[in-house]
Amino acid sequence: MADERTFIMIKPDGVQRGLVGNIISRFESRGYQLIAMKFQLATKQILEKHYEEHISKPFFPSLLKFMLSGPVVPMVWQGKDVVKQGRAMLGQTNPLTSAPGTIRGDFGIVMQKNLVHGSDSVESAKREIAIWFQDSELTHWKPAQNAWIYE
Ligand code: TYD
Ligand code: MG
Repeated sequence: MADERTFIMIKPDGVQRGLVGNIISRFESRGYQLIAMKFQLATKQILEKHYEEHISKPFFPSLLKFMLSGPVVPMVWQGKDVVKQGRAMLGQTNPLTSAPGTIRGDFGIVMQKNLVHGSDSVESAKREIAIWFQDSELTHWKPAQNAWIYE
């Protein structure tokens, strides 16, 4: 479905390393549509919701500290198969096992500093979008070039 949505977030290391433009550009040039975007410092409260499944894991305190260490860029992207394709564009959780050509495989070396988050399912995407954005912040617009991307 061309109206599938995913939640993509550039992490503090992606911002600090000046990779915001590069990461956005990959989704744009693939043909995906930007629906919403913010630039902000996260909070412990929002991160505990976002990473709910990881709260009891040993790496969580360190992950939380890292995610609070600088601004992040939460975004919503839309298009056909964007959840799965977004994950493929990110690479594996561990940058060292991520293929060149993926964001993590091109720019990352260690597990925590893996530059970008992407929803792992359509259900997760819905949950994460609702954590980071209000409905009124999701922009409704029709990209003029869609006819050149979709049949
Ligand atoms: P996870 O949801 O498993 O990975 P992904 O981001 O690919 O969906 O984990 C969330 C983040 O937690 C991950 O991007 C990096 C961090 N993390 C660690 O620091 N150490 C670990 O062992 C794992 C599994 C994740
Ligand atoms: Mg995950």
